[in-house]
Amino acid sequence: MAFLTHPALRCPLDAMPLVLEDGSLICESGHRYDIGKQGYANLLSVQHKRSLNPGDSKDMVSARQSFLSAGFYEPIAKSVMRSVSQAAKSQAAKSPVTILDAGCGEGYYLHYLTEHHRDPLNIIGFDISKWAVQRAARRCHGTWMVASNKNIPLADSSVDIVLDMFGFPDYASFERILAPGGRLIRVTPAPQHLIELRRLIYPQVHQMPNADTYPSSLHTLSSEQLAFNVELEHQSLKDLLLMTPHMFKTSMQGQSNLERIDHLTVTVDVVIDTLVCTEN
Ligand SMILES: C[S@@+](CC[C@H](N)C(=O)[O-])C[C@H]1O[C@@H](n2cnc3c(N)ncnc32)[C@H](O)[C@@H]1O
Ligand SMILES: [Zn+2]
Repeated sequence: MAFLTHPALRCPLDAMPLVLEDGSLICESGHRYDIGKQGYANLLSVQHKRSLNPGDSKDMVSARQSFLSAGFYEPIAKSVMRSVSQAAKSQAAKSPVTILDAGCGEGYYLHYLTEHHRDPLNIIGFDISKWAVQRAARRCHGTWMVASNKNIPLADSSVDIVLDMFGFPDYASFERILAPGGRLIRVTPAPQHLIELRRLIYPQVHQMPNADTYPSSLHTLSSEQLAFNVELEHQSLKDLLLMTPHMFKTSMQGQSNLERIDHLTVTVDVVIDTLVCTEN
């Protein structure tokens, strides 16, 4: 799909504007970032790269794409779309609004919005995993980048809506890029999230860690809990395990318990928060 340039793009090295020239993004200082045929730019600066292939692995990304494409999390996508519509209404003077998915994975949610949101949106998505961004850029036109929450290559006050879906938030960065009145929409696991899977793979199920406390400069406009069940066959269960951090925490015993199961009803339990920054 085509890479769409955006006036808010900034060089990750010196924060200068980036312009598209002969298939590359270039800043005034001469830093150049190629946009491959796959339709995304790599704007991850070396100092924000702790390993050769940071973020989710190719296998995790592939498992997430299979799982999400089957529609198991569509109720989450629908609820997020309602929050996005409300946020867009509050920015009615702008059309289209710019929406960023920070840690977009393989692009499921932005793609969903492109297909189903009533009004057009300027889509920007980045992830620290190049495997994820490669897949996202194949799904729909957008400003797709490999980048990190810790050094978002976008101008101050340039984004109307930031999505953080099961991600690794950096609130200072989010606040920097949010336009006045812009909104942060976060989806995080609630206490019963995937409880049946966790019971199966852990000898003892621990409570989910407490929800994040937000900086005082972020004001919560709404907080909605969404719970529903999904019926999962063996392969979808394996995909679900592989796409979550549980894969790294489970023992051989846990994995072999899962191997013996061919069907499981699993609870999806999440919180959708909408926040506004009070200091910009
Ligand atoms: C649990 S996955 C969620 C992916 C996607 N938001 C979704 O819900 O389908 C977390 C994602 O965050 C990415 N990630 C990890 N650290 C990051 C960082 N510092 N900046 C941007 N993305 C990051 C991972 O590569 C992974 O794709
Ligand atoms: Zn530069």
